Amino acid sequence: MPEVKLVNVTKRYGRIIANDHINLTIKDGEYVSVIGPSGCGKTTLIKSIAGIIKPDEGEIYIDGRLVNDLPIEERGVGYVFQNIALFPHMTVWDNVVYGPKVRCLPPEETRALALEMLEMIKLSARSDAYPSELSGGTQQKTAVARALISRARLLLLDEPLGALDVKVRTELRYELRRLVKDLKLTALHVTHDQEEAMSISDRVVVMRKGRIVEAGSPIDLYLRPKNIFTANFVGEANFLRGIVVQINGENSVIEIRGGLKLVAESKGWKVGDPVVVAFRPEFASIEMKEHLNRLSGKIVDVLYSGSIIRIIIELDNGDRVVVKKALRFEEPQFKTGEKITINIPPQNILVYPYPKEGLERALALE
Ligand SMILES: Nc1ncnc2c1ncn2[C@@H]1O[C@H](COP(=O)(O)OP(=O)(O)O)[C@@H](O)[C@H]1O
Ligand SMILES: [Mg+2]
Repeated sequence: MPEVKLVNVTKRYGRIIANDHINLTIKDGEYVSVIGPSGCGKTTLIKSIAGIIKPDEGEIYIDGRLVNDLPIEERGVGYVFQNIALFPHMTVWDNVVYGPKVRCLPPEETRALALEMLEMIKLSARSDAYPSELSGGTQQKTAVARALISRARLLLLDEPLGALDVKVRTELRYELRRLVKDLKLTALHVTHDQEEAMSISDRVVVMRKGRIVEAGSPIDLYLRPKNIFTANFVGEANFLRGIVVQINGENSVIEIRGGLKLVAESKGWKVGDPVVVAFRPEFASIEMKEHLNRLSGKIVDVLYSGSIIRIIIELDNGDRVVVKKALRFEEPQFKTGEKITINIPPQNILVYPYPKEGLERALALE
C-alpha cells in the first residue's frame, strides 16, 4: 500500500506548461481520481508517476523514496492506458504472463501468478481467447490483470473506461474499486468523466490548465466546492451575478439583476462585494415551503432524461436557470410558457467572488 507524494512537479512542452507545480499526496490505500478538461495535464501527471516521462522540476516519492531517476520497472506500478493496449496476436493468458516472461520469472511461479490474476478478475474461463474475441470491458480487465501481475501495489489508470459503452463503464467502475480495496492497492485514476470520478473515489482532484484547482471528498466537492470552476465542472450549477447588499450574522444578502434579493448562508463578505451566486439545479424547490429566496419566471423548456426532469426557467429579471426534479408518476406536468416560482434554501446557495477574468472565462473548459 504505497503512499505517493508529488512536490512541485512541473513539466513543460515548449511554451505549454502541462504540469505546473503540482503538489499532491495520495495516501496508502486511497483511491484518488484526477479530473479536468481535455488537455489539462492529467496524462502527463500519471506518466510522470509511472516513470514514462521525466518532469523538468520537482520530486516524486513512492513510499518515501525519491523515484525521479528510477526506471518504470523498478517503481512497483501497474499502468493501464486509455486505449486498450493488449497484444492482438496473443491470448488473454499470454498477454497476462507477458511481463513475468520478459523478466524471466520461473515458469511455475509465472503460472501461479497468472492463475491468481485471472481468478481475481473472473476470467479464468476465457484464458485462451484472443482480444478480438472479447468485449471492450473484458479487454480492459485483462489489461488490469497484466498491470497487476508484477505485484504492483500502485495502480495507475489513465481513462481506463473511456473507450467503453456507458453501461459497461458504469459496471466496471465498481469492479475496479472493489479490486483496489480487496487487494489493498493505492490507485490513481484519471478521467474526464466527473460522474465516474465521484462514484469511484475516496478523493477527487480537479485539474485545470496544468494546475490543481481543488481536491476533496466527492461529497465536499459537490456540496461545498471552494472554487467556482469546480462548482461548474463537478455536477451542474446555475450562476447569477450579484452584489452583497447586507450582512446578517452568518448570512449575506445578495442582490441579483432586477433588484431580486437572495439570502445565502455564507460569511466573510463586505457590503458592495461583487459576487457570483451558484446553486445546484436539484436544490431549488418548487414546493414553496419557505418564503425566503423566491424567484419567479416562466418555463421556457422541459427536458427529460431518464429519471430526471430539467426545467429551464427564464426568471422575471431575464436570467435563465435550470431546476432538476426527480420524475414521478403522480406529479403535474410542467409545460413550456407556464409561470413558475422556485425557492432556494440559504444553505444551498454558494457565493464566490466575481472572477477578475469574467464569469465565462472562469468557467471555460478550454
Ligand atoms: N509529447 C508532447 N509534446 C507536446 N505537447 C504535449 C505532449 N504531451 C502533452 N502535450 C500537451 O500538454 C498538455 C497536457 O496534455 P495531457 O497531459 O495529455 O492532458 P490530458 O491528459 O489532461 O488531456 C496539452 O496541452 C498537450 O497538448
Ligand atoms: Mg489524457
